[in-house]
Amino acid sequence: MNVCVIGTGYVGLVTGAVFADLGNDVICVDNDKEKITRLKKGVMPIYEPGLEEMVQRNVSDNRLRFTTDIAEAVKKSEVIFIAVGTPPKENGETDLSYIEAVAKEIARSIDRYKIIVNKSTVPVGTGDFVRNIIQTNKQRDVDFDVVSNPEFLREGSAISDSLYPERIVIGAPNQNVAMALLELYAPLERPMLITDVESAEMIKYASNAFLAMKISFVNFIADICEKAGADITQVVKGMGYDSRIGSAFLQAGLGFGGSCFPKDTLSLIQTGRKFHEPPALLEAVIAINEARISGFVRRIEKRLNPLSGKVIGILGLAFKPNTDDMRDAKSLEIIALLRNKGVTLKVYDPIAMDNAKSLLGDAVAYCRNAYETAHGADAVVVVTDWNEFKLLNLDKLKQEMKQPIIFDGRNIYSPERMKKMGFEYISIGRR
Ligand code: NAD
Ligand code: UGA
Repeated sequence: MNVCVIGTGYVGLVTGAVFADLGNDVICVDNDKEKITRLKKGVMPIYEPGLEEMVQRNVSDNRLRFTTDIAEAVKKSEVIFIAVGTPPKENGETDLSYIEAVAKEIARSIDRYKIIVNKSTVPVGTGDFVRNIIQTNKQRDVDFDVVSNPEFLREGSAISDSLYPERIVIGAPNQNVAMALLELYAPLERPMLITDVESAEMIKYASNAFLAMKISFVNFIADICEKAGADITQVVKGMGYDSRIGSAFLQAGLGFGGSCFPKDTLSLIQTGRKFHEPPALLEAVIAINEARISGFVRRIEKRLNPLSGKVIGILGLAFKPNTDDMRDAKSLEIIALLRNKGVTLKVYDPIAMDNAKSLLGDAVAYCRNAYETAHGADAVVVVTDWNEFKLLNLDKLKQEMKQPIIFDGRNIYSPERMKKMGFEYISIGRR
């Protein structure tokens, strides 16, 4: 099939590469000229395991190419995916201006029947919004359909999530268009749900908000455990044996960051309000999440009081492991609060250093590894649960430090082992 993907970011580039790998002819479009120029030279705009190899393979086999020319891409394609950003507005509502701009450009170029598939995360009703824009702006008397096909990939495992998705949701306005999408995804041999456009749009928000709710729930329980002398890892293990609960996505820590859970939960709150459904549950999810970092920094301050003049090493800057994405990363919040209190910060991340530098400038000292970060530090703080940090030589780390205090925001070490090794070890929801 001839496919184009408009928006060549985390979702668009991975989607384009995977569809090409399945044998389709794919054009990835972006209005960021520099991004497209670099992609044409084989330079990836993001770090994502397995992406570069897949892109290279499909470019050299002539199944994948990159352009800034939407009109040409639309004309050449039967199926047009929209994968542009849908950031939050100040009040939490979803900003649909990128979607609107793309819909207008599609309308200008559409010259025969096309299937337009919305892969961006958009509030319920956006399918209609896109259809109306194209209908009123199209310059030729041609037919088209608008489908909702939400994306569930996670950064850091985007390629395997796209090759082996747990489900593929297709919200289609009629049977024929559903069949066309089914055919496109058929080679993956994964479970597919064919539904209406509105339900597909809701499935995405309900899924993300539910996962965010699990995280805030476990963090609330972890805070009680900490005060009551219980151990959150034991509690989650005990809960997880109940097959109705399970133990996935109940990792207590510094809360959820990234470009999706915070914005999508806020957006669903606004949708609740729009339909006069009180969003108290989701407001609590956000409130618990927003209090995580101030609470954690208070614990650091209590132990190291006064913070002014202290040196702290930060391990991990990306919002989660296996990505270089710094959007809504917890490290940024922690660093801002500690800096305000007069702390000197040394930081290290295995992959996100370049992105961090463009955001943090000379506010912190950049280190080449965890040991250099720990050198001369009054404490080390684990912010991102990279495997590299789980496998550190902790004796060596300890020798580098001024005093052996570790604040672990992701519970990556065993408290017993750390105590035995002579660390003062402060983690989340554990003694
Ligand atoms: P991104 O910011 O990485 O990429 C978006 C791209 O769209 C950018 O390269 C931008 O230049 C381009 N763009 C914007 N306007 C354009 C236009 N008019 N024409 C052409 N290109 C344009 O965003 P992302 O993280 O890939 O997210 C895209 C959507 O997918 C969002 O709705 C997001 O919520 C959703 N989503 C993201 C993830 C994820 O893990 N990042 C997972 C599932 C769903
Ligand atoms: C999330 C969803 O998992 C994807 O299914 C979805 O497609 C995507 O959002 C999206 O819509 O963009 P992602 O943001 O890449 O994916 O990362 P997650 O692995 O879900 O982690 C999100 C945040 O939650 C991270 O800050 C992580 O540290 C935190 N988290 C996750 C916890 O604190 N505890 C957990 O148990 C799991």
